[in-house]
Amino acid sequence: MGCGRIARKFAADLHYAADNELVAVGSRSREKAMAFAADFPVAHIHDSYEALAENKKVDVIYVATPHNLHFENTLLCLNNNKAVLCEKPFAMNLAEAAMMIKVAREKRLFLMEALWTKFLPHFIKTKEMVTSGEIGTIKSMLVNFGFRPMAPVPKRLFDPALGGGTIMDIGIYNIFMALSFLGKPDAIDAVMTPADTGVDEQCAVLFRYANGSLAQLFSTFSSDLATEADICGDKGRIRLTSRFYEPSASIEFYAGKMDSKKEVSFDKEAGVGYQYEARHVAECLKKGWTESPVMTHEDSLLLIETLDKVRKIAGIKYAQDDKG
Ligand SMILES: NC(=O)c1ccc[n+]([C@@H]2O[C@H](COP(=O)([O-])OP(=O)(O)OC[C@H]3O[C@@H](n4cnc5c(N)ncnc54)[C@H](OP(=O)(O)O)[C@@H]3O)[C@@H](O)[C@H]2O)c1
Repeated sequence: MGCGRIARKFAADLHYAADNELVAVGSRSREKAMAFAADFPVAHIHDSYEALAENKKVDVIYVATPHNLHFENTLLCLNNNKAVLCEKPFAMNLAEAAMMIKVAREKRLFLMEALWTKFLPHFIKTKEMVTSGEIGTIKSMLVNFGFRPMAPVPKRLFDPALGGGTIMDIGIYNIFMALSFLGKPDAIDAVMTPADTGVDEQCAVLFRYANGSLAQLFSTFSSDLATEADICGDKGRIRLTSRFYEPSASIEFYAGKMDSKKEVSFDKEAGVGYQYEARHVAECLKKGWTESPVMTHEDSLLLIETLDKVRKIAGIKYAQDDKG
C-alpha cells in the first residue's frame, strides 16, 4: 500500500522470502501503480488503497505510506479483514497505536510493526551475547543515526503534516536499541533543534535508569554520522558498526581493552534485508497467529509511548497530539 521508496525495496526483497508472493499493489495513482507493477509484476493493480484493501486474493498488506497515514491505512486494511505489516513508526502517537491493536485483536487479525532490525542476524546475535553475560552489566549505550538528505529531499522528512523530523524517522531506531537492551527508562531528557518547518532537524535524547545506566541517543538530518551503536558493559563492549540498523556481515566485540577487538562474522544474504521480517510474517500467518512473538504489540506500545515522552520533553508536536 503506497508505491514509494521503501515499498520498492521491500518488494525486491520478497524475491528472497519463500512463502511470500506479491499479488497486488495499491497506489493513489494508476500511473504509479502501473510503473510499480512494471518493475514488480503483480496480478492485481489498484488505483486506490480502498480497492487493494477489498481484494480477496490478498492475505496481508504492507503499509508503506508516510507516518501520518499508518493509523488510517492500517484501520482500512483491518476493517477489510486483512492482516497488516505496518511500517515504523507504527503510528503518530500511543492513542493511535492502541486503537490499531484494539481493532486487530477484536477482529483476530495479525498486526505487526515493521521494525525490521529485530529480525536481522547481527541484532539477534548481539542480543544473545548480551543475555549470556559476555559484556557483563550494561552501563551505557551510545547510539547515533544521522544523514544529510540528498536532493531532491523527500517531502515527508521535513513536513510536519507527514510526521516529519528525525525522531519519528530515524531517532526511533536509537530508542528501539535502548529499549531492547536496557528496557524502559526511569527518566528521560531530550532537546531538539528545529528545522525551518518546525520539525526536529536534530534530537539528543538521554535515558537514565535507576541502576545508574545511561543511554545517549542522537539523530540528525544535518550531518552524515557513522550511525553506529555501542553497547557498553562492565566486562566488555559490543559495537554495531555502520549502519547498525541494517544487516551486517559482522559485529565488533571487545572483551577487555580497546585492542581486544574480535570480529563476530555472519553470512550476509543477498537483498537489502527486508526478507527476514517478511519470512516471519508468513510464518505467523501460516501458524494462525495474530501477534508476532518477536515484535509484539507490547513492544510497539512501549516504543511509541517512549517516543511520545521524548517528543513532549523536546517540544516536538504534531496535529494528531491534539486529538482525543
Ligand atoms: N523500515 C525501513 O527501513 C524504512 C525505510 C524507509 C522508510 N520507512 C518507513 O516507510 C514509510 C514510507 O517511507 P518512504 O521513504 O517509502 O516514503 P515515500 O517514498 O515518500 O513513499 C510513501 C508513499 O506513500 C504514499 N502516500 C500516500 N499519501 C501520501 C502523501 N500525502 N504524501 C506522500 N506520499 C503519500 C505514496 O504512494 P502512492 O502515491 O503510490 O499512493 C508514496 O509513494 C515511512 O513511514 C517510513 O518511516 C521504513
